[in-house]
Amino acid sequence: MWTVNKLPRMRSQEDIDFMRKNYKVPSKYTNFMDKSDINQIVDFWQENRADREISAGGGAKHGKGKTLRFPWKWEELGHIVGPYVNEILKTKAWRLIAGRMYLVHNDGRKWDTVHTDNWNLVKTQPVAAPTNNGNKFWDWLEENEQHKYYPWRTIVFPLQIKSKVTSTVLFDNVYFGNDCLNWNRDNEQTRNYIENLQSEDLISDEVYDKYLNHVDRNLVKGMEIFDIYDWQLGDALTWDSTQLHVSGAMEFGETKLGMTVWTAHP
Ligand SMILES: [Fe+2]
Repeated sequence: MWTVNKLPRMRSQEDIDFMRKNYKVPSKYTNFMDKSDINQIVDFWQENRADREISAGGGAKHGKGKTLRFPWKWEELGHIVGPYVNEILKTKAWRLIAGRMYLVHNDGRKWDTVHTDNWNLVKTQPVAAPTNNGNKFWDWLEENEQHKYYPWRTIVFPLQIKSKVTSTVLFDNVYFGNDCLNWNRDNEQTRNYIENLQSEDLISDEVYDKYLNHVDRNLVKGMEIFDIYDWQLGDALTWDSTQLHVSGAMEFGETKLGMTVWTAHP
């Protein structure tokens, strides 16, 4: 499976070996989070969203009908979420990178970035990284090498689904770089660093039309789908943060709310 031929920037062979050794395939935990816990989290979001919600991606303005992100602190919700994370990681020895809630809204704008979650300290104080990829990120990381880390699992808890079908599409491709891969923008420069990329088109029209119609067909050429997780309340979805993924297609006007926890090796 591991076919990559170049080391990503500021990653050693040792780094890659460590991450490969600890890699686990994506998985879903069904009927995992108690309804009362989901309700508590949604209530907290409702009470605080007016003060805290910000637009996600593409510089969109705050307001109704936009995809919105909601940062939360571990002191606020960790007592609810922590035991679930411990169970998924099978240890208490993990490091929190950040937690967010996302209200994804198909308002005509596409939530279509195929990406990894390798770097998200930018979303945590007091580490003030300017961004999670691109030139500014690399300049900052060169100066702040002590903040390099090994990403571990991304964990998503669906909280509210107002959509006929909504999913997360996980590709069978990983990227062990320090930065969050933005495959839409950087696919030419980064394809030598992606594991398991093929030359032929591996995604059927049927799957593409149902789950990926918001994503450019050419972008996913050569990528294989590991699995498509249909969101269900009470489930938890988890994958290595290095795994390429994208929010699945939704119909116009539909929304979904989920909580994300990004973790790292301690
Ligand atoms: Fe992500």
